[in-house]
Amino acid sequence: MRVAVTGASGFVGQHLVRHLAAGGHDVAGLSRTPEGSAAIRAAGGRAVQGDVTRPATLPPLLDGADAVVHLVAIIRERGGATFDGVIRQGTEDVLGAARAAGARRFVHASALGAVDDAGYPYLQAKWRAEEAVRRSGLDGTVLRPSILFGEGDHVFTLLAAMLRAQPVMPVIGDGRMRLQPLSVHDVTRIVARCLEDPGTAGRAYELGGPDQVSYEDMLRAVMDATGVQRPLWHVPPALMALLARGMEWTMRDPPITPGELRILLRGDNVTDTDGVRRAFGFEPARFREGLGYLRPDGARGTPLGPPRGAGARGAA
Ligand SMILES: NC(=O)c1ccc[n+]([C@@H]2O[C@H](COP(=O)([O-])OP(=O)(O)OC[C@H]3O[C@@H](n4cnc5c(N)ncnc54)[C@H](OP(=O)(O)O)[C@@H]3O)[C@@H](O)[C@H]2O)c1
Repeated sequence: MRVAVTGASGFVGQHLVRHLAAGGHDVAGLSRTPEGSAAIRAAGGRAVQGDVTRPATLPPLLDGADAVVHLVAIIRERGGATFDGVIRQGTEDVLGAARAAGARRFVHASALGAVDDAGYPYLQAKWRAEEAVRRSGLDGTVLRPSILFGEGDHVFTLLAAMLRAQPVMPVIGDGRMRLQPLSVHDVTRIVARCLEDPGTAGRAYELGGPDQVSYEDMLRAVMDATGVQRPLWHVPPALMALLARGMEWTMRDPPITPGELRILLRGDNVTDTDGVRRAFGFEPARFREGLGYLRPDGARGTPLGPPRGAGARGAA
């Protein structure tokens, strides 16, 4: 199958291009930059340069495509890139370009918790993008994943770096809000399954892993995976909001923005723990068992050869 992937240079995108290409699909991936294009080629796809906010750049990506997987989103507004412009309008324009190219199958990445509420502009743009997919007349599937973990992820890699760099680890409020991390490898498997199974068209799926974990337990899991233990500092939400606002003004890439904090403070963001098994017939990876990539040596192990330190003795 010829599959066009937007957001192909991102965290999910690179894993997905690799998975689809290894499965024998002909994959074209969109990126705005030469570095993104290089990453797509390294994953086994063909790179097409383009920008969803410039619809005229989209036809070369979709030329001859049977299906589209739309992953582009931004988690922070920056410069002229707004949630509405990139997520809602960008989705409408990719849908339009897919229709014009005759690609009927459309798998769309939304997010767990997408809601039509102006108090959460990111989640509202996600909701409106879903609505555009529903209205499009294409054979659309909407996937709403919870927070994703895996090599190259954003959140857990950042938490691991913060643990290594800081003497204490801040926890938002009581840290009891629950999330349901899902492995990126399970998401790529689900996307491939959606492309193969026409029965998934016209449906939306909430996707979470088998474990509902509190924010504090998530931090403890990252500490155990990295081997770096730090005392936890419970920061009251009002103080955290002040800190987030301060960091937004003073840092180019703050660890958390006021908008992200508001989303976390909405409370639990979870779904059925057996939804993936019921819908797609396999057990997703357990959270703690999937964090090996955060170990200092990653999950890659060490090169084959004598055990470290054995060389001198062996030679004696
Ligand atoms: N990661 C998670 O935990 C998570 C959880 C729930 C849902 N999701 C959803 O899953 C999807 C993929 O997430 P991700 O974590 O892989 O995101 P990501 O790493 O931030 O990648 C997004 C990609 O979108 C591309 N992009 C941004 N603006 C663009 C524009 N104007 N035109 C064209 N491309 C643009 C960027 O590519 P270039 O810079 O190369 O152009 C970037 O590589 C998103 O829809 C996200 O909302 C992710």
